[in-house]
Amino acid sequence: MDKFFITGGIPLRGEVTIGGAKNAVVAILPATILAEDVCRIENIPNISDVSAMIEILSIMGAHVKYINKNTVEIDTRFINSYVVEHDLTKQLRASYYLIGALLGRFNRAEVANPGGCYLGVRPIDQHIKGFEALGAKVITDNSIVNAKADKLLGNSIYLDVVSVGATINCMLAAVKAEGLTIIENAAKEPHIVDLANFLNTMGADVRGAGTDIIKIRGVKKLHGCEYSIIPDQIEAGTYMVAAAATKGDVLVKNVIPKHLESITAKLIECGVLVDEFDDSIRVRMNRRPSKCNIKTMPHPGFPTDMQPQFTVLLSQARGLSVISESVWDNRFRYVEQLTSMGAVIHVGGKTAVVEGVDGLNHAVVRADDLRAGAAMMIAAFIAKGTTEIGDIYHIERGYENVVEKFRSLGAVIERREFPDDDQRIQMGAG
Ligand code: EPU
Repeated sequence: MDKFFITGGIPLRGEVTIGGAKNAVVAILPATILAEDVCRIENIPNISDVSAMIEILSIMGAHVKYINKNTVEIDTRFINSYVVEHDLTKQLRASYYLIGALLGRFNRAEVANPGGCYLGVRPIDQHIKGFEALGAKVITDNSIVNAKADKLLGNSIYLDVVSVGATINCMLAAVKAEGLTIIENAAKEPHIVDLANFLNTMGADVRGAGTDIIKIRGVKKLHGCEYSIIPDQIEAGTYMVAAAATKGDVLVKNVIPKHLESITAKLIECGVLVDEFDDSIRVRMNRRPSKCNIKTMPHPGFPTDMQPQFTVLLSQARGLSVISESVWDNRFRYVEQLTSMGAVIHVGGKTAVVEGVDGLNHAVVRADDLRAGAAMMIAAFIAKGTTEIGDIYHIERGYENVVEKFRSLGAVIERREFPDDDQRIQMGAG
């Protein structure tokens, strides 16, 4: 169980380059199963969720070749089974995209549901509703999802909740289904648009991604392609907030400013100076932030995946801020860690009331999940003294070269390896 040791109190300054989007790549890698040739994918982030997905594809029989550390060529023609072992799928939540992709290719899929994470209940009823609308029979037994169709036929799918995962899984299953599929109340996140662009580059006919109605006309075959993943909106947002929270000055490069609008708007509301350029954003701050209320929403609303990082920023604000989480049932678990550092936050259900204070204390904390871990890092950059963060594997699932990138901004951060029998941290793990 490795840990970060961060000595805070230093304003972050300099330039940082953002990598490819985690939540796009974890959908695009399984989508290669639908292609009948080699796909070359560029701007792949160097994170453990990607290595896990690539390992799953390789074990299934795909030929995977790294051209360099961010470019991979995948040939899935050699995959001949629709069954994925449970031990593999439990490594990452996004393995449920294998259901849609395998169903699209073989009309069958047998994949273990990776189960709930730490954000609350994570049902997949809307994914199943979509598969069934396309003609599949879906049985879930002992957490194994078994989906089977004689033939997939296009249909209308109305999603009862706006779900990123269900939208993506329906797209994967529908691209080769016969006829027209219409997904209504679809999610509109940038990674949905990126997947649609990837599928279309392979010869699919997907229109309307980025709006709440996606129309897919099934095609018989998808060919190989070359594609570059979009920059990671949440990685960018995390560095923007870290710059503001440490009263620093950071140029965040390789971003799509349009994807960051809700984050930028909230930073400006807090009094942060934000300059937008074509593909970079400069964030500067020289005082305590102003209070600000936040409600998380599906895109284009404020992203839930930025909520923990903003709570840390607002823990330093002048005045009282209210943060409402409307996507996940249980996304304030990290608050306990933050209050141990001196933040004053009261959580009731899906709302947190943050009373701003000036500064935080160093402490021994842990990363409860990926974004909570990023929030702990920002808190540690603010705090005077050295903060120890455990369970950092959560952070490394989604932030590439996080130590090097923060160090290049002047952060004092060390990553130390500890044997797995470190009892204190194991007990802390959620
Ligand atoms: N929901 C249902 N039924 C379903 C699917 C979802 O009720 O069949 C509910 C969920 O319980 C939740 C809401 O709908 O309350 C939204 O869930 P969604 O399906 O959109 O989430 P997801 O696809 O499981 C992705 C990201 C999450 C991000 C959410 C929301 C990936 C791999 N994960 O999850 O990212 O929080 O969308 O934007 O794309 C992260 O990156 O840290 C992360 C957790």
